[in-house]
Amino acid sequence: MKIVLLAPPGSGKGTQAKMLADKYGIPHISTGDILRDNIRAKTELGVEVGSYMEKGELVPDGVLVEMIRGRLLHPDYASGFLLDGYPRTLPQADELSKILNERRNRLDAVLYIDVPDDVLIKRLSGRRMCTCRASYHLLFNPPERDGICDHCGKKLYQRDDDREEAIKTRLEIYKQRTQPLISYYAKEGIMLTVNGAAEISEVFTRICRLFDD
Ligand code: AP5
Ligand code: MG
Ligand code: ZN
Repeated sequence: MKIVLLAPPGSGKGTQAKMLADKYGIPHISTGDILRDNIRAKTELGVEVGSYMEKGELVPDGVLVEMIRGRLLHPDYASGFLLDGYPRTLPQADELSKILNERRNRLDAVLYIDVPDDVLIKRLSGRRMCTCRASYHLLFNPPERDGICDHCGKKLYQRDDDREEAIKTRLEIYKQRTQPLISYYAKEGIMLTVNGAAEISEVFTRICRLFDD
């Protein structure tokens, strides 16, 4: 299965991708997680992208294209992947097609998770993250112990881009730069849409139903 999750910030890409990766045994590639790991480790890449991400702006295409090409050409991803957060622009989508064509491969599906803006804002502003990549929500998906990760016991933190100004920027950029990809993939006939305005487990059931059909 070669799948792209193409959906707005806060729609549940990361939450659903982790569950789908477990169920179907395919690797989850989140470009946001990879970039945040680099920022924490203060790598050259992390230093380069930090200021864009903090403000909720897109990192330049060239950086992402290089990163994704390196991963997808790795044998671990030859039989499948769940791409979460890439592509986000038309040039990134073209590059993905090129990489897959080189291996005589193609995407099986692009999943759009449909969630209204007011719900997205509530989800993002209440999210809390762990450095182990687990994510929670203060109201909708709280950890067992306040502020502590269920998986690894570390203290949870709020992402810089989950503050009001950056959330606004991310939603605007999504509409301008990423939303046009829906018609790009619709033309290829591989778009699947799920209504994401429901509980996490219900959205998961809906997605599995689409994939199993
Ligand atoms: P990235 O990390 O990909 O952020 P994003 O797209 O803004 O998406 P989020 O991770 O915020 O949301 P999500 O859809 O994963 O939702 P989640 O499951 O966490 O990218 C960050 C930045 O990196 C970008 O802004 C950019 O700077 C850079 N970047 C990355 N890729 C790039 C690219 N290709 N090109 C250029 N730049 C790039 O859920 C959100 C919250 O809601 C959580 O608290 C969760 O618990 C809760 N929740 C989830 N589902 C439900 C539900 N059904 N009901 C109730 N609550 C729910
Ligand atoms: Mg995410
Ligand atoms: Zn953790």
